Amino acid sequence: MCTYTYVNVQKMTDKIAEEIVSGDEPFLGTLDIALLLVLIAGATWYFMRNRKKEEAPIRSYSIQPTTVSTISTAENSFIKKLKASGRSLVVFYGSQTGTAEEFAGRLAKEGLRYRMKGMVADPEECDMEELLQMKDINNSLAVFCLATYGEGDPTDNAMEFYEWITNGDVDLSGLNYAVFGLGNKTYEHYNKVAIYVDKRLEELGAARVFELGLGDDDAK
Ligand SMILES: Cc1cc2nc3c(=O)[nH]c(=O)nc-3n(C[C@H](O)[C@H](O)[C@H](O)COP(=O)(O)O)c2cc1C
Ligand SMILES: *[C@@H]1O[C@H](CO)[C@@H](O)[C@H](O)[C@H]1NC(C)=O
Ligand SMILES: *[C@@H]1O[C@H](CO)[C@@H](O)[C@H](O)[C@H]1NC(C)=O
Repeated sequence: MCTYTYVNVQKMTDKIAEEIVSGDEPFLGTLDIALLLVLIAGATWYFMRNRKKEEAPIRSYSIQPTTVSTISTAENSFIKKLKASGRSLVVFYGSQTGTAEEFAGRLAKEGLRYRMKGMVADPEECDMEELLQMKDINNSLAVFCLATYGEGDPTDNAMEFYEWITNGDVDLSGLNYAVFGLGNKTYEHYNKVAIYVDKRLEELGAARVFELGLGDDDAK
């Protein structure tokens, strides 16, 4: 059973930043403070170590780099990119008009900057099956910032990912995740996509690190 937090987007960002930086209990539930602490010391070390592991073939998709991610490698795989840059946090966005994308950027940059190096990625541009490999990166975390449209539908860029987790019976154990929804309470299917994805990832064996956060456009 999960509880839902109703906060607006700005408050949500602030809160996450605050909680993570201060290391308060509520947000840092099961997945431990140690996880975050190890990351600080680990970033440089990762970079050194993972440079040795770059022999796998280059694939054809690409990741959108953001201000958060300043590394430019020839690698287009988000897993390789994470490893090569010593990052352990990837923030995916399901966005139509940019709100969720902007929020994802803020999460990666502001909210988590003191503890985890993050990058933002468009699920449409990524091989999302690589989520299975997130467990190969120590203390990794995948965050999903997802907007809802229409009859509770995902955005175009999140559709493929949504269908993959809906229809697949993939085993996502070892994946640490958090979902943040962006919606507008005046709609009937308020934040339906985020609520569903949060639930579904758990069903597939992934570990929820933060409780589902729901942002309401209308609460500004
Ligand atoms: C045509 C339209 C339909 C929407 N449908 C929903 C909905 O069913 N449920 C919901 O929670 N929000 C709904 N919203 C609100 C958006 O999800 C919300 O504005 C969100 O922040 C948009 O994020 P984006 O800019 O990243 O696409 C809708 C917005 C529009 C314009
Ligand atoms: C993860 O951490 C453990 C212990 O800290 C270490 O032995 C292991 O090599 C690390 N694995 C990866 C893939 O970084
Ligand atoms: C939320 O939806 C209502 C109804 O469509 C709309 O009037 C309002 O402007 C929306 N709020 C925001 C912040 O987009």
